[in-house]
Amino acid sequence: MCGIIGYTGDRQAQGIILAGLKRLEYRGYDSAGIAIVDENLEMFKDKGEIGHLEESMPGIKGNFGIGHTRWATHGKPMKNNSHPMTDCKNEIALVHNGIIENYMTLKEELMKRGHVFRSETDTEVAVHLLEEFYDGDLESAVLKTVTKLKGSYAISVIHKKEKGKVVCARMISPLVLGIGKGENFIASDVPAILEYTDRMIYLLDGEIATITKNNVKIQDLEGNEVKREWEIVDMSLEGAEKGGYEHFMLKEIFEQPKVIQDTIIGTSLSSENGYSIGFKPDTIKIIACGTSYHAGYVGKHMFEEIAKTPTTVELASEYRFSSATTSQPLIIGITQSGETTDTLSAIRTAKKRGHDTLSIVNIVGSTMTREADETFYTRAGLEVGVAATKTYITQLIAIASLAIKMGVTKGRLGIDRARLLENQMRSLPKHVRSILSNAAEIKELAESISDVNSMFFLGRNINYPVALEGALKMKEISYIHAEGYPGGELKHGPLALVTSETPVIAIAVRDQTYEKMLGNIGEVSARDAKVIGIGTEGDRELEKYVDHTIFVPEVPHLFTPVLTSVVLQLLAYYAANARGCEIDKPRHLASALQWNDYIN
Ligand code: AGP
Repeated sequence: MCGIIGYTGDRQAQGIILAGLKRLEYRGYDSAGIAIVDENLEMFKDKGEIGHLEESMPGIKGNFGIGHTRWATHGKPMKNNSHPMTDCKNEIALVHNGIIENYMTLKEELMKRGHVFRSETDTEVAVHLLEEFYDGDLESAVLKTVTKLKGSYAISVIHKKEKGKVVCARMISPLVLGIGKGENFIASDVPAILEYTDRMIYLLDGEIATITKNNVKIQDLEGNEVKREWEIVDMSLEGAEKGGYEHFMLKEIFEQPKVIQDTIIGTSLSSENGYSIGFKPDTIKIIACGTSYHAGYVGKHMFEEIAKTPTTVELASEYRFSSATTSQPLIIGITQSGETTDTLSAIRTAKKRGHDTLSIVNIVGSTMTREADETFYTRAGLEVGVAATKTYITQLIAIASLAIKMGVTKGRLGIDRARLLENQMRSLPKHVRSILSNAAEIKELAESISDVNSMFFLGRNINYPVALEGALKMKEISYIHAEGYPGGELKHGPLALVTSETPVIAIAVRDQTYEKMLGNIGEVSARDAKVIGIGTEGDRELEKYVDHTIFVPEVPHLFTPVLTSVVLQLLAYYAANARGCEIDKPRHLASALQWNDYIN
């Protein structure tokens, strides 16, 4: 998720823009830049931290401009890929947050018309379109440009000939206008401008705004003026960075509908990205750690059912001790940070053994992206909470997209079925939003089990790794001992631990495992365990077997883990919050980046 800021007023823009970019650092970034107009358009951008940019940046005069912190999605972190992007006459500067799904088609058309591209980004197509459409009216040029774009965008644009004017447009990626006195602001998020004004207008999808120091004009994509009143934002800066949520983890759980959509767009199966991938493996071995391992375990079922490719999953920390085999599986390393030592080591071992390697990573330019032969990106944005939530969910989406591409490439999946699966995936953000709207019920249930010392999470087949992940979330943020178990395994020993003091969370959605799960629920409830069932909406039968039921919308069983995992994330979060735990920074734990520092 990139950060955007724009300013116009009587003050010098440079200091305001840099301060605003620093306020957006929590969104994560790998490069930054600013553009300001005085007589001419002056721009300065580079890879690296904003502090580094500030030290090396010359003083730039001018009272209107834009700034950007980049979280790379297309094109690795480097100066040319940093924003702002400019046209070849250096009259227009543009910054963008989002993913332009049809950028390849647009880029090819623009290059045929003589445009020269200087970056690997999707964003750059927008500034070249602006160059073509600009005929003295910046708003009109922006409107024509955004109607060409598919995907998500928040853009902010300035032109050297239109003094004091900043134009912006929004589709899916957030943009807010800050209304000052004799000055106005644009930002991707409130913290960037909260120190200057608390009067905000949140742009809606399909809106275009033009700000000057004394005026704000909003129009829709048909050019009709839109009247909107500003509202007062009443929150601290820290609260604003958390989007008003109590913890980053909760904010990131609630960001999941959007990042699912971004990851689908980024890995989409449209003609833009095509179906073909470079690998047609006979078998796959997934290696990962922790939550990423659980994502890979869910992914095993996706590769086997969609791409008809036998798949095994192995803990990265164990893989290094495994003996080399004559088989040649495609090795898929899943790591959101791209820096987990065990997973990096496993990939290096795999390459020494002559295997093809592919990685699924969230951070562009991380070490893993240089180790694996190919990389498939999730688009979760920076995850501040140590407990993985949105990075895990987007791993599931990326794996599903990869499995569909692999299935088509191997001739094991027809285009029609691929499109059907893709459309079913596109409905997931809506279903996740419906689960999130039910958070209060989940919170109440979580608080009712927050004082126990132990609990079990049960699931079968594709729901078993979801049970593992639910147990890990509960352990790592609430410190309650929790075990994820295959539903059919409890009776082979662990049932001895089940009492009225050990709640059981049973994933019993209406899939092939349902009947067997009802039996397993019977086993534990006969030992007086309180059972919370995670079921399919409308399943009244399940309610007869459990003490409480949390329902999820009905989707194809391969996508159910996306929904049931969100329920279990909320259950763990609210149980931990009821226990007063330090949720964003759980004891003894750190993100992979910090963890490696500790190990090394
Ligand atoms: C998950 O909540 C944990 N933070 C941890 O298990 C994490 O998933 C694991 O360390 C792997 O991290 P990675 O995805 O960055 O490789």
